[in-house]
Amino acid sequence: MTVRDTSKSDESTADRNEADASEDDVGANDSDGLDTRAIHSGRENPNDALVTPIYANATYEYDSSTRLGGEYRYSRMDAPTRNDLEAVVADFEGGTHASAFASGMAAIDAVFSLLESGDHVVAGKSLYAETYDLLADVYPKYGVSVSHVDVTDPDAVRDAIREDTALVYVETPTNPLLRIVDIAAVADAAHAADALLAVDNTFASPALQRPLELGADLSVESLTKYVGGHSDAIGGSVATRDADLAAEISRTQYTRGAILGPFESFLVRRGAKTLQARMDRHCRNTRAVATTLDSHEAVDTVHYPGFESHPGHEVAARQMADFGGMVAFELAGGVDAATSFVAGLETITIAESLGGVESLVEVPAAMTHQDFTKAELKDAGIDPGLVRLSVGIEREDDLVADVRRGLDGIL
Ligand SMILES: Cc1ncc(COP(=O)(O)O)c(C=O)c1O
Repeated sequence: MTVRDTSKSDESTADRNEADASEDDVGANDSDGLDTRAIHSGRENPNDALVTPIYANATYEYDSSTRLGGEYRYSRMDAPTRNDLEAVVADFEGGTHASAFASGMAAIDAVFSLLESGDHVVAGKSLYAETYDLLADVYPKYGVSVSHVDVTDPDAVRDAIREDTALVYVETPTNPLLRIVDIAAVADAAHAADALLAVDNTFASPALQRPLELGADLSVESLTKYVGGHSDAIGGSVATRDADLAAEISRTQYTRGAILGPFESFLVRRGAKTLQARMDRHCRNTRAVATTLDSHEAVDTVHYPGFESHPGHEVAARQMADFGGMVAFELAGGVDAATSFVAGLETITIAESLGGVESLVEVPAAMTHQDFTKAELKDAGIDPGLVRLSVGIEREDDLVADVRRGLDGIL
């Protein structure tokens, strides 16, 4: 990777990034007022339109063959509705730049596109299934190698980093087990070896966690999830504070062409206005649902970083504003109990995805992670009977009653 040398220095990467941000005067590393800015920020719109319109233009007029008529040329390069969303996402993330892609996977692929033949990646063991596939099957074809380690242990990351390591790639909280990675510690490990750190921030969303402020070089979101928030658009983003990285990511966006279209940009931008309000409710409901699960005899183990007993609780309390809208659990009755439990739910829908207003339940080994081999599932710690719940913003009592109904039904 030749994009950028993360120069070795005595100061921690978190300190360095904070200093960089204040030098650039982005004013975005202050999460206060994010909910206000999310509603009011945006471009100057024609005709005093309160909301940025859907600009369904592929191309823009030139004044002459040598002079553009205005700011825009061709929509794969720049487009007003998408650029508006990108400005909002950059602000959310405490970044200076963000690029919006056709999906979370396209955004993750843009991060991996920074790699060159001969580069090595240190990545988490428990990753979103397609992210795992990109690293296991696609990028090795281009000479990239990968080591999967327990990234919740910064020493394991440090030990796995080699001379040729160009990128450390983590999710936190992880999918589906909600393990927590200490972003600042892992950033320091990566930077000490001149490697970059990219964080998939999808499970937290920038309302709860801002990886760039903790030292990460790149923060990735599946906008499909909390930022969009309504399960009606697929999208992704990459944010950074580094101008060189931003230029490389934009080049990938333009050359590979996996851009977010104007309609999806509009939907995600609309959803983003209520991110903080939704997230507050997601977190409150999840606390109630996790407590219900934890006290029920049908449940064996609950994975929820809000519990003091969770191994990542302390780090989560330090780096997240709250503990999020996801909970995973194993039932005492294993796979059969998981199948019966999800079938017994009435309010909560069986579906993949997460982060929308509606509560969704899934069994990762049978659904999102169905392409994992038994060995890969075991390595990622995913029990065949694990249930993952994305807790929506319905009324708390209704959700608790539904979960109780499902659990009582399998006793
Ligand atoms: C953690 C995580 N990252 C990335 C993705 C991929 O996002 P998308 O479906 O928008 O491509 C997902 C999808 O579920 C995810 O859970």
